[in-house]
Amino acid sequence: MTAMNVGIRTAFLLGLSVLWSAASHGAEPAGAEFNEEVVKQDRIYHSRGAQTATGYTVDRALLIYADGLASGFERALADLGPADRWLDIGAGEGQAVLDYYTPGYDLAHPQGRERRGRKAQAVAISIEDRRTRLWDLSAGTLEPNQIQYLFGRRMSQYSLEELGKFQLITDVIGGFSYTDGLSRFMEKVLGLLDVNGSFYTALQDVQWEDGSNRPFYPGAPFLTRIIDAAGADMKVCAWLKRIACVEVTCEAKPQWQPPLEAFHVRKVCNEVAVPAVETVHYQAGTPPERRFQLRQ
Ligand SMILES: C[S@@+](CC[C@H](N)C(=O)[O-])C[C@H]1O[C@@H](n2cnc3c(N)ncnc32)[C@H](O)[C@@H]1O
Repeated sequence: MTAMNVGIRTAFLLGLSVLWSAASHGAEPAGAEFNEEVVKQDRIYHSRGAQTATGYTVDRALLIYADGLASGFERALADLGPADRWLDIGAGEGQAVLDYYTPGYDLAHPQGRERRGRKAQAVAISIEDRRTRLWDLSAGTLEPNQIQYLFGRRMSQYSLEELGKFQLITDVIGGFSYTDGLSRFMEKVLGLLDVNGSFYTALQDVQWEDGSNRPFYPGAPFLTRIIDAAGADMKVCAWLKRIACVEVTCEAKPQWQPPLEAFHVRKVCNEVAVPAVETVHYQAGTPPERRFQLRQ
């Protein structure tokens, strides 16, 4: 088993299953049940110490990122130069970012070391402030603004003017797994990515591109589902491949528990168009259970 926690899904999949009529709502469902789940989800984000929600992992090391993300991620990070920028969405404690700046990282990644020089600038984003003493100490030893930690807002609440462009964006069981607005989230990510830049992310317990896996928890659906306008299941990989101006590869990671699918989304031109989905089901959890429906 990898170092990833086995998600104890049932622990936070509490209360009523929340269903919304896709016809009667916009991109995000309205209504008391949805609001209730949002409140529960917010409690999970802000849970601390012994009260931390079961399965809510906030300290994955860079090695774990490399194991969970698509092949190519390690090389993409090692190849960033000092003028480049890396954004980690849903960074938790920011351990992966800290690992990148250690001498141990350079020893383990001799390729690209010359080019890297002082290394890229990194921005870590989290809803809740999970900075540790180690973060503060490391930030103090680096150039001003070499690493930045932003918190207090969701990804969708930042503008391009505030954040600027990035050559590499990662998300390891962060915003992509937790958002209640999947197409809005992807639009934001791709808007922040430079042409030829890459977004590396992954989802737990999702139908793989080749359709060979079944939901991890007996009797439960996949954690993230997309259904088309007629109500038939559509793989997340297939949805990503329908985005204009990107090249997408999808990689199953059966060794993780629950198993993952890792996605590499490379932006190839500026005229990005993300097929809109609306949220028809959202149940708080670590991560939440979500169902989205393709519009049209
Ligand atoms: C389970 S933790 C994962 C932390 C880290 N990536 C790791 O693997 O250790 C989820 C992180 O995603 C963040 N997050 C969830 N939804 C988000 C959103 N829409 N925008 C930005 N961050 C989000 C949370 O605040 C938290 O930092």
